[in-house]
Amino acid sequence: MFSLLPHHYTALIVGASGGIGAAITQQLLSSSQVSHIFVVSRQPQRLNDPRITHLTLDVSQEQDRLALKQRLAAQPIHFFFNAMGILHDESHHLQPEKRLDQLSADNLAQVMNVNAFTPILLLATLQDSFKGTHPAVIASLSARVGSITDNALGGWYSYRASKAAHNMLFKTAAIELKRLNKQTIVLCLHPGTTDTALSKPFQARVPSEKLFSPAFVAEQLLAVIAQRTPDDSGSFWDWNGKSIEW
Ligand SMILES: NC(=O)c1ccc[n+]([C@@H]2O[C@H](COP(=O)([O-])OP(=O)(O)OC[C@H]3O[C@@H](n4cnc5c(N)ncnc54)[C@H](OP(=O)(O)O)[C@@H]3O)[C@@H](O)[C@H]2O)c1
Repeated sequence: MFSLLPHHYTALIVGASGGIGAAITQQLLSSSQVSHIFVVSRQPQRLNDPRITHLTLDVSQEQDRLALKQRLAAQPIHFFFNAMGILHDESHHLQPEKRLDQLSADNLAQVMNVNAFTPILLLATLQDSFKGTHPAVIASLSARVGSITDNALGGWYSYRASKAAHNMLFKTAAIELKRLNKQTIVLCLHPGTTDTALSKPFQARVPSEKLFSPAFVAEQLLAVIAQRTPDDSGSFWDWNGKSIEW
């Protein structure tokens, strides 16, 4: 599937219980090229494949990031896919804001933490697994609404800002990682509107042909990733292989 990655490559997927994370895991398992997948989620998961090691961790917590680092023990990771993210959380009265007067410091901090700070802190914690000379793809789910150039509609302050921050953090990491391993490819990806728990409350006005299944999105994103080379590191792509302006 990935000509750039070796046969018997090792993958790490976080946010693996989510709609897109689970579909990516299934797609990777459908190929014999992957020899081992570390699958990380906060809830225990039942995944029956001998190539899977499931780790029940909350990587938004520092001690769990350190536990993951210890478990990986600096072994080379060839494919890291970040599928974690938050848009709404009913249990914390967190909804995407439509107006300035809906902003709250708590919600801004929570969305920033899950969508931007946690993924980059995880990369920082696990960097020994990406240093060296092995091919290493680091793909992290962003969103088109994080593009400042593309923002014509407004609204969704914290989510937009968190994805813009996510993109800046991964773009910056791409530059540093190139020095540590010439074979790294760091990518920010927009999956398109996908039928998952995250988009559920906002699907009413999405035409059915624009609401994708997680399986379709996983297939598309993996095809987009497979076409990238180290020269593309630090770039932003949509599910259809079109680059997105920051
Ligand atoms: N669905 C869409 O239409 C759409 C569009 C554009 C971008 N995206 C982006 O795609 C990514 C995946 O979204 P999805 O649609 O698959 O959503 P999802 O089904 O809700 O999955 C998101 C996953 O993120 C993890 N997560 C959420 N809050 C967390 C927290 N506080 N601490 C740690 N982990 C947390 C959870 O994984 P665990 O329980 O496994 O820890 C959760 O299952 C997100 O970054 C989202 O912004 C989605």
